[in-house]
Amino acid sequence: MLGRHRYLIIGILAFVFVYFFLWSSSNELPKPVTGVIQPVVSVDGNYNAQSPFIFIGGIPRSGTTLMRAMLDAHPDIRCGEETRVIPRILALRAQWKKSEREWKRLQEAGVGDSVINAAISSFIVQVIAGHGAPAPRLCNKDPFTLKSTVYLTELFPNSKFILMLRDGRATVHSIISRQVTITGFDLNDFRQCLTKWNAGISVMYDQCQSVGSDRCLMVHYEQLVLHPEKEMRKLLNFLDIPFNDSVLHHEALIGKDISLSKTERSTDQVIKPVNLDALTKWVGNIPEDVVADMANIAPMLKVLGYDPYANPPVYGKPDDIVIKKTQDVHQNGNEWYKKAVAVVIDPSRVDKPV
Ligand SMILES: *[C@@H]1O[C@H](CO)[C@@H](O)[C@H](O)[C@H]1NC(C)=O
Repeated sequence: MLGRHRYLIIGILAFVFVYFFLWSSSNELPKPVTGVIQPVVSVDGNYNAQSPFIFIGGIPRSGTTLMRAMLDAHPDIRCGEETRVIPRILALRAQWKKSEREWKRLQEAGVGDSVINAAISSFIVQVIAGHGAPAPRLCNKDPFTLKSTVYLTELFPNSKFILMLRDGRATVHSIISRQVTITGFDLNDFRQCLTKWNAGISVMYDQCQSVGSDRCLMVHYEQLVLHPEKEMRKLLNFLDIPFNDSVLHHEALIGKDISLSKTERSTDQVIKPVNLDALTKWVGNIPEDVVADMANIAPMLKVLGYDPYANPPVYGKPDDIVIKKTQDVHQNGNEWYKKAVAVVIDPSRVDKPV
């Protein structure tokens, strides 16, 4: 009787001892190793700099939100809302690097490329992974990140990029008519905005081209709207993700699998099905002197395949599915309007039904 108790007590003591030993060793701080940068891993442990992130960008009002909503509709992909901070950290780093004096000071302080790259890639991994649900493929849409495509391919060797292209006249008309504040754009000046559009898309286009077509795919907004199935098949093939019909019906998944921001300017538009309404709204709404000088103000129009003197150019004929969805948007204008009003912070900005 007594012997059995003795063994029980010894057993318990041994267990407690081993337990505390393991517990204390697991709490030991990792030993810092000077000069060695540990790999970056997200808080949940599932994502790191080797993850095949998808980056979507372009000049704002070029269909970047539509693109991310369509990808969000795919069961294997999560994009989510704009993070706003990712393009800012990239711009900061570009600013440090641009100043020769500052960059030298950083090097002198031991804050060299590898330290900065590890810090920035960690920041980006945590933000992308942390601001939404996990998924087999994570994606980020912050329009201006595509200005840093080359740098991002260095940080994330398995990442892919989608550059949204759109007729700059439509983009600028949308920026101005919807009063979308963008740093550097003067919303009272069509010519100035087109110049800014031209400079911005020129940088993104060069960056996209220089990483090559297996890393960066350019998608024309007009073609995505006219031929969604063809464009999405091509795109998913580029991303090595199997096609799923759900990407053609993103409107059915808003509020379920697709999370939208109440404050983003495109929210009231992407709750609707893909439709043709936005293609040519700009025609007749650009000052005449600007229209007459279009090729000089925005030479990138021609580079991207848009005739600068056609108002509008021929974008192409829509697929049947798009014609049907556009009819739905028109016939059920009030219902779509109510849905739009319900998902934004500022209902006065929502387009009234036609
Ligand atoms: C498409 O996605 C849905 C879920 O959104 C899934 O149930 C279905 O099996 C998928 N289809 C294919 C062909 O993968």
